[in-house]
Amino acid sequence: MEFDDVINSRYSVRKYSDKPVEEWKLLKILEAGKLAPTAKNLQGQHIYVVQTPEERAKFQDEWSMTFKAPVVLIISMKKDLEWISHFSGLNRGETDAAIITDEMMLQAHALGLGTCWVGWFDPIKVKEAFGLPDDETIYNLLPIGYPADDAHPGPNHPLRKPLTETVTYL
Ligand SMILES: Cc1cc2nc3c(=O)[nH]c(=O)nc-3n(C[C@H](O)[C@H](O)[C@H](O)COP(=O)(O)O)c2cc1C
Repeated sequence: MEFDDVINSRYSVRKYSDKPVEEWKLLKILEAGKLAPTAKNLQGQHIYVVQTPEERAKFQDEWSMTFKAPVVLIISMKKDLEWISHFSGLNRGETDAAIITDEMMLQAHALGLGTCWVGWFDPIKVKEAFGLPDDETIYNLLPIGYPADDAHPGPNHPLRKPLTETVTYL
């Protein structure tokens, strides 16, 4: 897929088929995350791959939204490797996690897979369910799988503000 096509055709997939994700594709997605830029190249990410039925069953609908996808990545950052900007006070670990998530998302789509960025989850419950360490911050979930035959973009997908509203040439 051309880069333009990847950007233009991606949408948040919220219904998945049962078809398993090939191991080589999953590895390619994880490699894309590895190549993402991170503040000071700290690479503090810790990505958990949830794909066995037993592990996937630990996600509960009332505190996490994973759409029963065959693979779910938990994107977590090691707290001591999150750069806090001394200019703005902003935690750049969250930025790192976002870039990593986005690059994996685009790579998955380029491989014919669907994804949905998920922020609607309780990180405390995720930590408890999977026994994740306290010295990490969980930022995102990324369900991955083949879109179901009747999967379709959500109503918000086409709603994009025009550049005249969001860009200022100085
Ligand atoms: C930080 C962030 C959190 C999100 N959380 C959720 C979520 O919890 N559940 C969900 O269905 N979509 C979630 N989304 C997806 C957005 O709703 C979606 O990207 C947006 O509506 C545009 O639609 P599109 O991705 O199909 O273009 C999230 C996206 C971002 C960037």
